[in-house]
Amino acid sequence: MTAHGTTPHQPIFAGDVLAKLEALYPKYPDKRSVLLPALWLVQEARGWVSDDAVREVAERLDLTPSYVRGVLTFYTMYHKHPVGRHFIQVCTTSPCGMCGAEDVARTLVEHSGCGDLGATSPDGRFTVIEVECLGACGFPTPILIDDDFIESVTPERVPELLARYP
Ligand code: FES
Repeated sequence: MTAHGTTPHQPIFAGDVLAKLEALYPKYPDKRSVLLPALWLVQEARGWVSDDAVREVAERLDLTPSYVRGVLTFYTMYHKHPVGRHFIQVCTTSPCGMCGAEDVARTLVEHSGCGDLGATSPDGRFTVIEVECLGACGFPTPILIDDDFIESVTPERVPELLARYP
């Protein structure tokens, strides 16, 4: 901790993460084209993309931090603040909404302990958010838990689904 009570930034691009970044360069026409996978590497390594990480990515890819931040904030798949170990996305767009998605979302929030959409449970285990159409409108309600796509979720299934993610 510093005298101001903040944790000094530890470089993300070191060791394995740096090796993964450098392995991306030959696959793209120029450095700036590596931006999206570079941000993904950061999120995999740290769980979210901090302002320090934005500056580090910008430096590595010869971009400005404001450019990186503009791209980062455009995409909902990147986390701009810390989230739980398991990130749950539930579709509440109208077709799913008419089939009970709001009840699924409410049950997820209650059983996960998050207390509210977008909040993280006190044990750091879950964050639940609402998202737009997940492309499975015929199987309401679809949810994503981390990278697992789960269809036809009902409030009754929620406790058993959450138990799979310690
Ligand atoms: S509206 Fe929910 S998946 Fe399309």
